[in-house]
Amino acid sequence: MRWGRAHVRISGSTRVCGIVGDPVEHSMSPVMQNAAFSHAGLDFVYVPFRLPRGSARAAADAMRAMGIRGLNVTVPHKVDIMPYLDRVDSPALRIGAVNTIVNDGGLLLGYNTDAAGFMRGLSGAGVEVGGVRVAVLGAGGASRAVTLALVDAGARVTVLNRDAERGAMLAGDVSRKAGRAVEHAGLSAGSLLTVLREASLLVNTTTVGMHPDVGGSPVGAELLRPNLTVCDIVYNPPETSLLRLARERGCRTVDGIEMLVGQGALAFELWTGVPAPVEVMRSVVREELARASH
Ligand code: ATR
Repeated sequence: MRWGRAHVRISGSTRVCGIVGDPVEHSMSPVMQNAAFSHAGLDFVYVPFRLPRGSARAAADAMRAMGIRGLNVTVPHKVDIMPYLDRVDSPALRIGAVNTIVNDGGLLLGYNTDAAGFMRGLSGAGVEVGGVRVAVLGAGGASRAVTLALVDAGARVTVLNRDAERGAMLAGDVSRKAGRAVEHAGLSAGSLLTVLREASLLVNTTTVGMHPDVGGSPVGAELLRPNLTVCDIVYNPPETSLLRLARERGCRTVDGIEMLVGQGALAFELWTGVPAPVEVMRSVVREELARASH
């Protein structure tokens, strides 16, 4: 089904939300959130603000001064913005990064919807993680949110990272915060072979396979057993080389659009107080990515 493009009517009372980051030109959030506002009949608009590194305080000040209702925060401000907020909720404090701000009458409240959005995407796809061995590839900011969410949900996680020391640090940090052991190893064919023997879910949080270097896969086809579920948080392209190999091997796959929509839906709900039209958000992102690739 086509949902069409958002037609937002801006009036004197329109409430403003947006995204601050650098770069923001390729963000899918404006198209996704405006379609959602429009579908829900809300007098809201969502705009991109390119803001260079070092300007997090200016973003917080601008939000208060101009009555901006909500912001998503992306690279490079997710950590830097935290000291300028009035309150930060506990998931965001544990992850150590904020991706969503609500301006509640001048009080700035910080949240992180990445972890919960990721879990919403997985459960929407029918993937159970309790008690399950999960291989998480990568040890950057995205891996931190995903690993913590999985451990909190009862998964037994092994973090595999090219830079093994960075992977060990992330595993140590998450296991301290969650009070549960997180295994770690370098990212190699040998370690993958060992971990994937036991794992039933593989999550890629590395940038391998992301546009424009779409050819690469962090895992070879021969390691993908059909009873493995493979999830890639890269959403451009929606079917990464890893997901294509997994599909061809008969694995269940979950693409990065699910996490993108999951985190966006939670942010929408924080700003507006109404349930997010997730179907609309998902379709509009899929259409936009399909258009961009032609
Ligand atoms: P983010 O915050 O979005 O997660 P990041 O902090 O830049 O991004 O992390 C990128 C992740 O992709 C890292 O785990 C990185 O591995 P290293 O820590 O070893 O650098 C991983 N990555 C990037 N390119 C990779 C490649 N060619 N092969 C394997 N892993 C790669």
